Amino acid sequence: MTWELDDELPELSREVELVLYRIAQEALTNVARHAHATRVDFALTSSTTGLTLRILDDGRGGDLRVGAGIRGMRERALLIGAELTVAARPSGGTDVCLVVPGPAAGS
Ligand SMILES: Nc1ncnc2c1ncn2[C@@H]1O[C@H](COP(=O)(O)OP(=O)(O)OP(=O)(O)O)[C@@H](O)[C@H]1O
Ligand SMILES: [Mg+2]
Repeated sequence: MTWELDDELPELSREVELVLYRIAQEALTNVARHAHATRVDFALTSSTTGLTLRILDDGRGGDLRVGAGIRGMRERALLIGAELTVAARPSGGTDVCLVVPGPAAGS
């Protein structure tokens, strides 16, 4: 597993923090339960676009039925005005990406 955490993340509201935590938790649980991955790349980075949380695995990927877990991630993202994508990677594996737009990330 690799981790990339920006040194200078903006101050986050408790609400944003909790959403990031829950989404990371569900995404990593899904990797452990479903992916049969050999590798996970976890990144929390900040840029002018906002804050990006990304969890990539190199597992079986493919067809994603949307269950309670993915639905829950979507709902949590909506609560803080963030955008969530869950997609199969062209190279195999799954890509979970959450973007919290600039102002919302620190408010
Ligand atoms: N990282 C992943 N790699 C491969 N398949 C995945 C991955 N994440 C999700 N899936 C597939 O998508 C389905 C839906 O995921 P989702 O989290 O919504 O439900 P779940 O994990 O099956 O159940 P739960 O409601 O407990 O989270 C999974 O059952 C699995 O088939
Ligand atoms: Mg799940």
